[in-house]
Amino acid sequence: MSTATAIAHPNIALVKYWGKRDSAINLPATGSLSMTLDIFPTTTTVSLDDSADHDVLVFNGAERTDGPAERVTRFLDIVRDLAGSALRARVETVNTVPSAAGLASSASGFAALAVAAASAYGLDLDAAALSRLARRGSGSASRSVIPGFAVWHAGDDDASSFAEPVDAPDLAMVVAMVEKGEKAVSSREAMRRTVLTSPFYPAWVSSTAESLEAAIEACRAGDIERLGRITEVNALRMHALIQSCDPPIRYLSPVSIEIFDRIAALRDTGVDAWATADAGPNVVVLTRPESVSAVTAALDGVNELAVAHPGPAASLLPRTDG
Ligand code: DP6
Repeated sequence: MSTATAIAHPNIALVKYWGKRDSAINLPATGSLSMTLDIFPTTTTVSLDDSADHDVLVFNGAERTDGPAERVTRFLDIVRDLAGSALRARVETVNTVPSAAGLASSASGFAALAVAAASAYGLDLDAAALSRLARRGSGSASRSVIPGFAVWHAGDDDASSFAEPVDAPDLAMVVAMVEKGEKAVSSREAMRRTVLTSPFYPAWVSSTAESLEAAIEACRAGDIERLGRITEVNALRMHALIQSCDPPIRYLSPVSIEIFDRIAALRDTGVDAWATADAGPNVVVLTRPESVSAVTAALDGVNELAVAHPGPAASLLPRTDG
């Protein structure tokens, strides 16, 4: 039976995706910009099973029959539809990202699943088509298909909403793990609530579209300072927006805020470093590769830290069963 294994890495957005125009196909309200990391990979094997009447998901060694399994089946239905197949699959995934702690585990997860499932079902997809497919599983996964820096074009339909590489200066990220637990409100639900209840949402959409253009320009020009400033402002705007929901949601903890403050103080000493955070309390610091040690020193004693550089595209792994 056909089987394929793929590996993908998480990405951290410099200009965030927060809000959908069409949740049925994960069309975002705005484009976004991210760096795919070279740490915390997800490895996923998809094996077609002609005797099975349902899909099986084994996540980090444990079989799941709850929400994540249903999400995987909904995703595989899209792949089956494209491939004209009715075959069920066994999906085994090993995720080294601290799950659901706001570190984009769904991004690496659905990027790896898209690449492995496309191959197992015999689809021959180019990078843009893989990005579009991964997007259907989780919006941010569209960017984890792409190596290094990626811009996800919002697009206005399924065909035009995909990520592609963008030239960028040499940068690194320091991930400050504040908490590894599951977050109280999923980013999917929080996004939905934002669109429905925040009076600031229209301003977020228009300002993020502007920030994205400026950030892409800064990337291409190698203007790290401008890119860094846009990154931190965009992150804090997103968190302000999330707090403006009804009922409100707050992802940043007091420790997260302390890290933002420490990074601002470090910047005052002349080190180029800017903080960002996704839908969780963990903080990620964007910096120059040569300033990584200054950043880790500034965060000493506060957190578990991990250093990341631009990572590879999602890819198939060679078969090991001969
Ligand atoms: C804060 O991609 O997880 O990380 O499309 O509903 O699966 P769904 O959402 P998801 O949201 C990511 C939100 C973010 C910002 C970003 O990565 O751009």
